[in-house]
Amino acid sequence: MRIVFSLIALWLAAALALTAGAGRCAETQDVEHRVSQLLSQMTLEEKIGQTAQRNLGAVLASPGDVAPELLNPLREGAIGSFLNAGDVRTKNILQRIAVEQSRLGIPLIYGRDVIHGYRTVFPIPVGGASSWNTALIERAARIAAIEASASGIHWTFAPMLDITRDPRWGRVAETCGEDPYLTSILGAAKVRGFQGRSLADPTTIAACGKHYVGYGAAEGGRDYNTTIIPERQLREIYLAPFHAAVEAGAATLMSAFNEINDVPASGNAFTLTRVLRGEWGFDGFVVSDWNSIAEMIAHGYCADEKEAAFKGFTAGVDMEMVSTTYENHLMAMIRDGTLDESVLDEAVRRILRIKFRLGLFDSPYRDESRVDILLHPDHLAVAEELAMQSAVLLENRNNTLPLSRGLESVAVIGPLADSPVDQMGTWTMDGRIEDVRTPLAAIKAYLGPSVDVLYAPGLEKSRSMDRSGFAAAVDAARRADAVLLFLGEEQILSGEAKCRAFLDLPGAQEALIESVAETGKPVIAVILAGRPLTFESIKDKVGAILYAWHPGTMGGPALAKLIFGEESPSGRLPISFPRTVGQIPVYYAHKNTGRPPSERNLGIPTGTPLDPRDFTSNYLDVDFTPAYVFGYGLSYAEFEYSDLTLSSNEIAADGVLKVSAKITNRSDVAADEVAQLYVRDLVASVTRPVAELKGFSRLRLEPGEIRTVSFDLRAQDLAFLGMDMQPVIEPGLFHIRIGPNSREGVRGEFRVR
Ligand code: NOJ
Repeated sequence: MRIVFSLIALWLAAALALTAGAGRCAETQDVEHRVSQLLSQMTLEEKIGQTAQRNLGAVLASPGDVAPELLNPLREGAIGSFLNAGDVRTKNILQRIAVEQSRLGIPLIYGRDVIHGYRTVFPIPVGGASSWNTALIERAARIAAIEASASGIHWTFAPMLDITRDPRWGRVAETCGEDPYLTSILGAAKVRGFQGRSLADPTTIAACGKHYVGYGAAEGGRDYNTTIIPERQLREIYLAPFHAAVEAGAATLMSAFNEINDVPASGNAFTLTRVLRGEWGFDGFVVSDWNSIAEMIAHGYCADEKEAAFKGFTAGVDMEMVSTTYENHLMAMIRDGTLDESVLDEAVRRILRIKFRLGLFDSPYRDESRVDILLHPDHLAVAEELAMQSAVLLENRNNTLPLSRGLESVAVIGPLADSPVDQMGTWTMDGRIEDVRTPLAAIKAYLGPSVDVLYAPGLEKSRSMDRSGFAAAVDAARRADAVLLFLGEEQILSGEAKCRAFLDLPGAQEALIESVAETGKPVIAVILAGRPLTFESIKDKVGAILYAWHPGTMGGPALAKLIFGEESPSGRLPISFPRTVGQIPVYYAHKNTGRPPSERNLGIPTGTPLDPRDFTSNYLDVDFTPAYVFGYGLSYAEFEYSDLTLSSNEIAADGVLKVSAKITNRSDVAADEVAQLYVRDLVASVTRPVAELKGFSRLRLEPGEIRTVSFDLRAQDLAFLGMDMQPVIEPGLFHIRIGPNSREGVRGEFRVR
């Protein structure tokens, strides 16, 4: 009987899957048919209109407020999209003109930078990535979509998929860090979160993978700067997350500002057409970055706007953001035969395809009453959870943390303790300071009236040099049982064009730490920043360092729970932290070199030269290792890894290896651990990194609990690009490790046959 039921269940599942598949297929055919029909009716002017995206900050009270400069192009179908088009009412007003007053009624698509939340602000992306929690990150993106779509937004310029190994670059804040595997997994989760099951669902928004491509490799960490990336690295490191996003169904991509190997990314036929469309079969559209088509003139790649339009368009950028070279020049180029109309048709087809998939032709207007979903308690709970899982405990001497809730008084000091705007971090166009719960407010609420919370900021802002507040801060520290120092960077020190050549705590913050530490009280530094900072010289002056990034709306309550031990820190670094700027780039997946430095030379304090007889790939004056490695983070619990087990010590080129290890919680604290799987291909026809992340798993362990963590490693996951740039799995020996970060763990080896 059971077998019969199982068979029926199987049959039903198969039938349902087939029906769903057939349904999707019919939907696709329908969209393609509708696109073709529409395209066949469009004039050249209307087609070019679809490629134009304008910026519009304004909010309009009534249809009568639409200025003629906007009204006429909308009626003529000369604008395909807006970014930053005011509130939901404004968007409906403009949409009505496009749909009801233009000849073909093609709806506008509204884009905006919804980067890490909308009204509910989640931690900045590099913070969120520190959670290594794929499901939670997908959930946060889903919430961002629900809130943004309630404001009439159809399309977000996210996720950012740039890999960076340079914390000087201000946009490190927007990345998922240094690793292509982690970025691919988390980037795809964001795509799924934004886009949901169907783009036609009015609570979803189209994703835009950016910045295609190589933007994070900017020379010297200076934004918009040149990148030189050999093809293997380009494909394996920088393109990989974009490929994953395309596979996850990302509707659009954005072309980057930088040039790659002497050709601007926004005019790069190799990446935009050969790889993206030719190899990956991407059928969505590409929008330029802000003005990046026109900027190809400054790059020295185009003589004038006309050439920029030609090169950008033929390379594969379908829609132009803000600059107007397409509007101004495509028509003449088609008329004089420089550009074939079929190229325009293809670009417009891609744009219309996404507009159809978004359901904009069937329901172009958005419900103006949905805004009450903003800051929904469920959204705030997820924001708090993500902020909590994003914080990384870097130091904790003598278990300084967690603090007891039973203390009598605590000093809260530092410029980031009560600074809502800074706490939200970069790209929070829709976050509001009045919604933010700061650490100061949260700690007061958490401890209640029985504990004295003595607040003295010490410095007004992170960059302040004025020490007149030090005396009060030191006095508060003296009177308190413990000191919480909220330090870091202001919001405006990271993000676009916010690059730094020095990565120390800015202003007089180090001096503030020193003054407070002299009181002899236990000092905990909580750092809120948009990038990895360097703070070697203050490490031994504080008992604990908790790295909170810019944690968003709910950062305060999340930090209070961690500080007072209600939950254990479980964030892990998605990017290596240098000891000093001179080490950059420093990343875990480096090559071994012919003269790898030796572990014997570890522990050289910064600025103390070693004996220069060591002829290895080393520094004279600082360890070659980072301050904190990729994947690193402490916990209040103590985890022990043991018993690495492989299903076999050999796999075939099409085989799968089951690899597992035991993790024991040797403490009386329940906590999450993030187990990480790394491999190293020892000898290959092209050299391979000393470690590559191939899997990770976040799991909860109760006190004393032992759990087994398992991964399926397919031989295919070991493929790399050979001399001919084709993927190859070569036979030979591999090292494998499951551990708590990119340096430690239990080790084994296996062979690929
Ligand atoms: C420029 C930024 O590089 C990009 O990330 C953003 O989406 C656009 N401006 C639109 O605001």
